[in-house]
Amino acid sequence: MSGHGITDKNVSIFVERVTRAQEDERLRISRELHDTTIQSLIMVLHQLERYLSDNQELNIMHMRFIINIQDSIKTILQEVRHLSQNLRPSIIDHLGLLPAIEFLLQTLEISSSIKTILHIEGKSRPLNKDMELIVFRIIQEALSNVKRHSEANLVEVTIKFEEDIRFYIADNGKGIEDSATSMLDFMQQGKLGLAGMSERAKLLGGDMKIVSSADKGTTIEICIPEGPTPNLRTY
Ligand SMILES: Nc1ncnc2c1ncn2[C@@H]1O[C@H](COP(=O)(O)OP(=O)(O)OP(=O)(O)O)[C@@H](O)[C@H]1O
Ligand SMILES: [Mg+2]
Repeated sequence: MSGHGITDKNVSIFVERVTRAQEDERLRISRELHDTTIQSLIMVLHQLERYLSDNQELNIMHMRFIINIQDSIKTILQEVRHLSQNLRPSIIDHLGLLPAIEFLLQTLEISSSIKTILHIEGKSRPLNKDMELIVFRIIQEALSNVKRHSEANLVEVTIKFEEDIRFYIADNGKGIEDSATSMLDFMQQGKLGLAGMSERAKLLGGDMKIVSSADKGTTIEICIPEGPTPNLRTY
């Protein structure tokens, strides 16, 4: 079957290309949301504000009606901003990886009943921005899996700064059901999340381990060595 089956090598190339295409597409959608949707919503908000200040004789019922619409638009605005942030986390560029991870954990807490804890061990140091974006994506996918599949009520993210940098995302959920299922099997079912995480870790010259059991939940461990990362091209 050689030359026809899925091999580790062509899986790597495939996942890397999908990952890159996904990143480009996310950037495009995020810009679009920022430049059009968010601006339009802000414009409507301003129009309503102006209408209110130009029509102070409105009765209280009509005023309340408009204020309720303003509140709804503000909520939508916040949701779209979050969406845009998740698509292209400019928070990484502005504040760095750790605040970006805090942002992911807060977003998870707000949108689910899962509690989150962040542990930082060792002396934190910044990575380059491309590396930080890749790490962010890995943690984002891990947390999305926790939310969608784990039935956990707690997820702990630990970052250990030693000679290398280790990231652990540990949930207390039900574990990955069929632990015999390999990443290739998942991929053949169209499930690309874990494979994408592992490929991203490899892009950083590192690797990813999954430890999962029904009674202890799932832990994803990513180890990134210090030093040059030969596989990394700019994202
Ligand atoms: N934290 C977790 N707890 C329990 N099960 C998990 C967890 N993470 C992954 N899984 C299981 O492993 C499978 C593969 O995960 P993967 O992220 O590759 O795919 P997916 O989440 O199903 O789809 P995609 O990520 O492509 O949208 C999931 O379908 C789920 O059954
Ligand atoms: Mg997934």
